[in-house]
Amino acid sequence: MSKYLIAPSILTADFGKITDEVQAADAAGPLIWHLDVMDGHFVPPFSFGTQIIKAVADATDNLVEVHAMIAHPTEHFDAFIESGASRIIFHYEAAMEAPKLGGPGLGETVLRAKEAGNEVGIAINPGTSITEIEELLPEINQVTVMLIRPGWGGQQMNPELLEKVTRLREISDKSNLSLNIEVDGGVKSHNAKLCIDAGANILVVGSAVFNAESTPQESLTEIRKSLN
Ligand code: DX5
Ligand code: ZN
Repeated sequence: MSKYLIAPSILTADFGKITDEVQAADAAGPLIWHLDVMDGHFVPPFSFGTQIIKAVADATDNLVEVHAMIAHPTEHFDAFIESGASRIIFHYEAAMEAPKLGGPGLGETVLRAKEAGNEVGIAINPGTSITEIEELLPEINQVTVMLIRPGWGGQQMNPELLEKVTRLREISDKSNLSLNIEVDGGVKSHNAKLCIDAGANILVVGSAVFNAESTPQESLTEIRKSLN
C-alpha cells in the first residue's frame, strides 16, 4: 500500500468525454476523484454541479470526493451524496459566514455532513490558521490545505503554506487521529515530493494531469515516479 494517493481534479478535463477521461486516469493506478464544485459566490467562477459528479461516479469504482467551494454548503450535501460522492469537503470560511446567511454554524455543518454521507473534510484557505479548526479535528476525516486562493486551476502553489501540513500531521500523530491531510493547488511532479515530505497523504492534481501536453496516464505516471 502506498502512503499517498493522487486525487485528480477534473477542472481542466474535457467534459464532453468525461467518461473516457476518468477511465484513462483510473487505468494508470490507484487514485481518488476530487470534484471542485464552485457556486459563483464563495468563489467567483461557476464550475459544475451534480450531473458531472454523477457522470464521474458512474465511470469509476474509486472514491469520489466533492470539494464544495460554495456559500451554502449544507444545502447541497444530500445532493452530492445522492450523485455518488462519498466524502464531502466544505470550506471553514463558508461555514463561518453561513449563520449570517441563515445557515448553520461550523459544528452543525460538520454534523450535517456526517449525517448526509460517509466522510467529512474541512478545507482551509491560505489565510486561515489551523488553530481555528483544531478543536474539530477529532470529529472529521480530512483537512484540505489550500496552497492557492481557491477558484481557479493552474496557479502556482505557495510552499510556505506546507508548514500547516506539517503541524497538522504532528497533531494527528500525537492524538492518533489518522487524519487525511490533502493539499490542493499547484501540485506538479516537481513539487509533489515536497508535499508528501511535509506530511500530506493526498495530493490534488488538476492541470498537471489534464493538459494538452500529455495524456492523463503519462502525467500520472510522471508524478508517481517523482515520489519514488
Ligand atoms: C481550485 C481547486 C483545485 C484546482 C487544482 O480552487 O480547488 O482543486 O483546480 O488544480 P491545479 O492542480 O491546476 O492547481
Ligand atoms: Zn479542489
